[in-house]
Amino acid sequence: MNEATRIEAPLDGRDTAHLRGDAIGGERYFSREFAQAEWDGMWTRIWHVAGRTAELIEPGDFVVHTFLKESVICVRQDDGSIRAFYNSCGHRGMRLVDGASSVAAFTCPYHGWRWGTDGVLQHVQDAHDFPQGNPCGKLTLKELRCDTWGGFVWYTMAPEGPSLHEFLSPMPAVYAGYPMDTAVRVAWYRIQIDANWKFVTDNFSESYHTRTAHPQVPPWIDQDVDTARHEMWPAGHGRTVQPMRPSLSDRLPEGVPHFFDDILRAWDIDPDSYPSFEAKTMQGWLDLKAAKRRLWKEKGFVHYEHMDDEQLTDSPHTVMFPNVTISFLPDNLVFFRSEPHPDDPEKCFFDLWCMAFPVEGQDTVDSIMAGPKPCREVEQCEHRVFDNGRGIPELAGQIVYQDMELAEGMQAGMHSHGYSDAYLSAQETRVRYFHEVLNDWIEGRR
Ligand code: FES
Ligand SMILES: [Fe+2]
Repeated sequence: MNEATRIEAPLDGRDTAHLRGDAIGGERYFSREFAQAEWDGMWTRIWHVAGRTAELIEPGDFVVHTFLKESVICVRQDDGSIRAFYNSCGHRGMRLVDGASSVAAFTCPYHGWRWGTDGVLQHVQDAHDFPQGNPCGKLTLKELRCDTWGGFVWYTMAPEGPSLHEFLSPMPAVYAGYPMDTAVRVAWYRIQIDANWKFVTDNFSESYHTRTAHPQVPPWIDQDVDTARHEMWPAGHGRTVQPMRPSLSDRLPEGVPHFFDDILRAWDIDPDSYPSFEAKTMQGWLDLKAAKRRLWKEKGFVHYEHMDDEQLTDSPHTVMFPNVTISFLPDNLVFFRSEPHPDDPEKCFFDLWCMAFPVEGQDTVDSIMAGPKPCREVEQCEHRVFDNGRGIPELAGQIVYQDMELAEGMQAGMHSHGYSDAYLSAQETRVRYFHEVLNDWIEGRR
């Protein structure tokens, strides 16, 4: 069966008829009870990203994903599969490891119990001293379901429920021709911000804020509301697909060099060959698709091979419920994620992984959100605190920095007696839909 025939048709993400009308009250952004309900009803049941398959190459390579108070190890097995275990020793519960590394076995720092990478207990001190019998070969670390998609390693704490691909559906089918796992992570940040994690999903569920918050974007990605496709699916995933061409309503002043002209030239198209700005924008964008289709191989853009026409020239900004957003750009895969802070619902961690597709002869790539970078895997995550921008000065002026600058003010506004619910435009329908799906999870309807 053709992959395309299996894609579930989206709902219109501008149609408010799909909404119940649940209020987006302020309390859900700061209440500890609400945060607990999210843990009980949602976080323990959804699929989480632990890391990238590129971090787990050899048997024994592992990553630890710590989420709120929980911690999970994902480790590459001798047979090439990846398995996930709770990061808690079967003796008295000690956390076994942190970070990411490679081991032959996990040795507990407390009493030295040694667990194989398959989770089976291999060695204990004084094995004869256990009235229950020697625990070696009998005890195992508690295992979780683990799977991969898109070059990411995922796990779920739910012993039963949807498989990863069912949970993510229809995204694996939608992006089947997009070679996610060949992208190289060129910038890697985890930034603590003073806002509830939902601010990030809200923010990525609409482009209505772009003209105000990111004035540099409209000449690059068309922000006109009627030229975008707004899509959402019943599982809570959604996306805005915008053409990567200038918005017709946001022209740069005459004479100002236009980024789009450089893109056209890079694909052997003369931007001066069009009779008007409108023609260059609309016809040039079509010509660009055709040129990429024709020239990808000779120009070394091997990642274009199976992309569809839309992926070659558009920006599908995709939110996967509840907290993962991926921009599937023609030359960049940008991964964003927010996770709650373990001690304070008014803080969160914002992950920014900028990935780019290697192109022959290109040593430097545009990371999109963190400036130009060498085209090679970064080894370490940068852990920062946003601190009004002081903690991450090198990102000043970048799109994500502009978003983070808004987070604290939004968080503060959620406490105001002047705020009771959002008053949304149609193009923000997905914001309310996200909260309604979240309510479904925590109220036991999913
Ligand atoms: S808690 Fe791990 S060996 Fe004792
Ligand atoms: Fe933004």
